[in-house]
Amino acid sequence: MPQVIFLPDGVTVDAQAGKSLLDLAFENDILIEHNCGGLCACTSCRVIIREGLNLIQNKSEEENHLLSEAGFTGEENRLSCCCKILNAGVKKIIVEIPKT
Ligand code: FES
Repeated sequence: MPQVIFLPDGVTVDAQAGKSLLDLAFENDILIEHNCGGLCACTSCRVIIREGLNLIQNKSEEENHLLSEAGFTGEENRLSCCCKILNAGVKKIIVEIPKT
């Protein structure tokens, strides 16, 4: 079964294609801040993709703009509400939730 591992706690959940990483975390009681309610309008849901970046929907212009303005320029920085899992056949995605 394909999985998503949320760091730093190492909580592992089943991946579901089409679902965002924020929704997946929320459904599994994993806390990721989401001040704008998952509307891609803040950066509070930022995560760092440690593995499996190619298995997640590409950054939109809007997401890229928000992250760049906040100084998070590396490709591994993503907004979890904007990160839809592309294919449930993926092996593993590792997501780090940074300390706020
Ligand atoms: S919750 Fe605000 S951008 Fe994701």
